[in-house]
Amino acid sequence: MAIEGMDRETNERLDKVIQMRRSIRSFTEEVPPRQQIEQVIEAGLLAPYAAAALEGVKLFRRFFVFERGGESIEKVAELAVEHMKAVAAGFKQQCETDPAFAEKAGPFVKRMEIVVSSGKLPITEAPYFIVIAERAGFPPAEKQSLAHVLENMWLKATALGLGFRLISLIANLAHNEDFCKLIGVIPGEFAFDGCSIGYATEWPPPTPRPSFDEAVTWFASSP
Ligand SMILES: Cc1cc2nc3c(=O)[nH]c(=O)nc-3n(C[C@H](O)[C@H](O)[C@H](O)COP(=O)(O)O)c2cc1C
Repeated sequence: MAIEGMDRETNERLDKVIQMRRSIRSFTEEVPPRQQIEQVIEAGLLAPYAAAALEGVKLFRRFFVFERGGESIEKVAELAVEHMKAVAAGFKQQCETDPAFAEKAGPFVKRMEIVVSSGKLPITEAPYFIVIAERAGFPPAEKQSLAHVLENMWLKATALGLGFRLISLIANLAHNEDFCKLIGVIPGEFAFDGCSIGYATEWPPPTPRPSFDEAVTWFASSP
């Protein structure tokens, strides 16, 4: 059965949104209307969730919106830097005693150290920073659910002409007592992901992908 309203035009527009989606890492000063941010959140709410892992849980998804320049967003950035500092120090120590780990993690750890020493995380740069929280269930599927939420939000932001950046480091604060207290959840009860939204200073070209033929293996029903 065809779905009503799913015509060629809808299909072509969806393709266009998917093709135009980009990671935006530089934002203008202009603040998008709050109503558009609400629409982006609505798209995130519509993403699938792991129903079987969350039986009886009604409020399995929450959104915390931080506005640029506010006290709360500065506090989040401060906590995230603090946390990253501790993680980077642990990784560095491990690199010194474990050559195999150093080879694998070295470049990432160096990048972390540069960010930590600058004391500047991308959290405060866009007009809006949103933390998305998905309730941890059994079996754990909350991280996968978050990826669906973020992709829905990303595509909706793109369709609205808004720039979007994933801020995945916020996931590390799932057990951070100060951060969880700030947003009013119990440490460990939710998994987090985050994103920044605003107007892009420029829309970058597409990033490389494997070719269709390289990436796809098709097991046909007949030879
Ligand atoms: C799981 C995951 C985490 C990511 N985390 C970040 C992030 O914290 N900051 C960031 O700027 N981009 C992040 N990205 C975006 C990727 O770097 C980006 O998607 C990739 O470079 C391709 O570029 P495009 O999004 O413009 O197609 C993340 C992407 C994925 C899939």
